[in-house]
Amino acid sequence: MKKPTKRRLSFLKRTIRFLLSFLCFHSHALTRSKMRLTLPQNLSLSRLKTLLLIVSFLFILYLLFYRRDWHAPPTLISRVFDYTLTRRHLLFAIASSSQSWPRRKPYLRIWYSPNSTRAFTFLDRVAASDAGNDSTVPPVVVSADTSKFPYTFRGGLRSAIRVARVVKEIVDRNEKDVRWYVFGDDDTVFFVDNLVKTLAKYDHARWFYVGSNSESYEQNVKYSFDMAFGGGGFAISYSLAKVLARVLDSCLVRYAHLYGSDARVFSCLAELGVGLTHEPGFHQVDMRGNLFGMLSSHPLSPLLSLHHLDAVEPIFPNMSRTQAMGHLFEAVNADPARILQQTVCYDPSNSLTISVAWGYAIQIFNGNESLLDLLSLQKTFMPWKRSVTIGASHYMFNLRDYPKDPCKRPVIFFLESVRPDIGDVWSYYTRHVVRECVRPDAIKNLKHIKVISQRLELDIEQMKAPRRQCCNILPSFNESMVINIRQCGVDELISMHF
Ligand SMILES: *[C@@H]1O[C@H](CO)[C@@H](O)[C@H](O)[C@H]1NC(C)=O
Ligand SMILES: *[C@@H]1O[C@H](CO)[C@@H](O)[C@H](O)[C@H]1NC(C)=O
Ligand SMILES: *[C@@H]1O[C@H](CO)[C@@H](O)[C@H](O)[C@H]1NC(C)=O
Ligand SMILES: *[C@@H]1O[C@H](CO)[C@@H](O)[C@H](O)[C@H]1NC(C)=O
Ligand SMILES: *[C@@H]1O[C@H](CO)[C@@H](O)[C@H](O)[C@H]1NC(C)=O
Repeated sequence: MKKPTKRRLSFLKRTIRFLLSFLCFHSHALTRSKMRLTLPQNLSLSRLKTLLLIVSFLFILYLLFYRRDWHAPPTLISRVFDYTLTRRHLLFAIASSSQSWPRRKPYLRIWYSPNSTRAFTFLDRVAASDAGNDSTVPPVVVSADTSKFPYTFRGGLRSAIRVARVVKEIVDRNEKDVRWYVFGDDDTVFFVDNLVKTLAKYDHARWFYVGSNSESYEQNVKYSFDMAFGGGGFAISYSLAKVLARVLDSCLVRYAHLYGSDARVFSCLAELGVGLTHEPGFHQVDMRGNLFGMLSSHPLSPLLSLHHLDAVEPIFPNMSRTQAMGHLFEAVNADPARILQQTVCYDPSNSLTISVAWGYAIQIFNGNESLLDLLSLQKTFMPWKRSVTIGASHYMFNLRDYPKDPCKRPVIFFLESVRPDIGDVWSYYTRHVVRECVRPDAIKNLKHIKVISQRLELDIEQMKAPRRQCCNILPSFNESMVINIRQCGVDELISMHF
């Protein structure tokens, strides 16, 4: 035989052997038949070609029919899951301490409803004054002893271990019918209906770790951009929580050098191979002072939590912190999904720009303010670290200046009251006067604004692809103005035009 033919023969033999071995490896039927992979030594070229043809044909058949998931590994095949999540499917675990608990109870009373919210508060011990059950706050559980775990972060607090271990202790209680475990601090206010809507996007039978990082760039550099900050709160799906509870103690030993409880949970989840699912509605609130700039330009995502309430000023003027948060909840209870949602409308005839943060405040700007400017946050707050000068801190969002001179600021109207009607919700806002300023004639006498909107009921598909709503100002106003919030037209643009 000539050399080229020899080479072709061996090439054909190798190809056939490869295809056969592939078929044998991937098909149980063929493996069971124990087909031999050795080919007779003295096959002629033509017979080899025929054999190759047959094997190729089998190979194609195999690709077509036997392994239908050739292009989609089985793990990617989507599974239909039950979207009907209710408040009862969420179990909250609130980390508190015997010291802070008496002071923080009023915050819990704002968002916790004994009849529909399931929650436990974890304390280091029960003080005498807390003995006896108070049904207006979540029942108290005393955390297990954690003194056997090491803690080596200099200047940190050992309680981080106890708080991290709440994750295990709440799962080990084996409460019935839980789909999500939600963790937060005693100074975290949760917006429970929005959490239900948001978590319903994810399948609790899969592994999910849902939360958000800090608003402060520096805090994220220090801890991690991919960590759910514990005060802002985070949710862990049932199936993941079960596994995490089993392995957490070994992580607590390995991560003794970390500062906080959230970092311990985050590290353990990372070891399980799970990353953060970012939901921008969770707010760690790593800032101080006046939160107005943040609350009046909330992302197009439901409000899920607010934290560090003691570190910020009351969110409404002339009220205590708890009063102010309770006032916000008058709107939350009327239309939870719409709370803080920003809508912008323009009045071209008077050259005014109006920005509504529903249930909280309305701002009226003189002139044509661009939407993008209105969506960025006015810097009304101060950095979390007191040592950092205001200019040197960085945030995770775009900022614009908030003028020092109150007369250069927009005119602000704060929520006064909310009246739910059938289908519609009427919310009333009153002008906040800081100083007498020269204002455009059109709004010189304006004292009250009434906003008419429909209860925002988003289904899962709308939750996944949200769109900002539009608004109209009813023509001619003097002392009071009426704004109507509605769905935008298909190609309607939010801009000033005649
Ligand atoms: C909670 O349930 C109790 C008894 O079922 C009822 O009397 C009470 O009015 C309910 N409270 C609220 C806020 O729904
Ligand atoms: C409070 O309630 C919990 C369970 O609901 C119970 O285990 C505990 O004994 C009660 N404590 C007191 C002081 O009544
Ligand atoms: C502040 O609140 C008190 C009572 O809550 C009221 O009497 C007073 O007029 C308020 N002040 C302003 C400036 O609204
Ligand atoms: C607007 O309100 C002021 C009082 O605030 C009143 O004096 C004025 O007449 C009103 N203008 C119109 C056109 O109603
Ligand atoms: C408002 O500003 C935008 C862009 O800045 C411009 O395109 C638009 O014409 C302005 N509208 C009016 C009525 O001035």
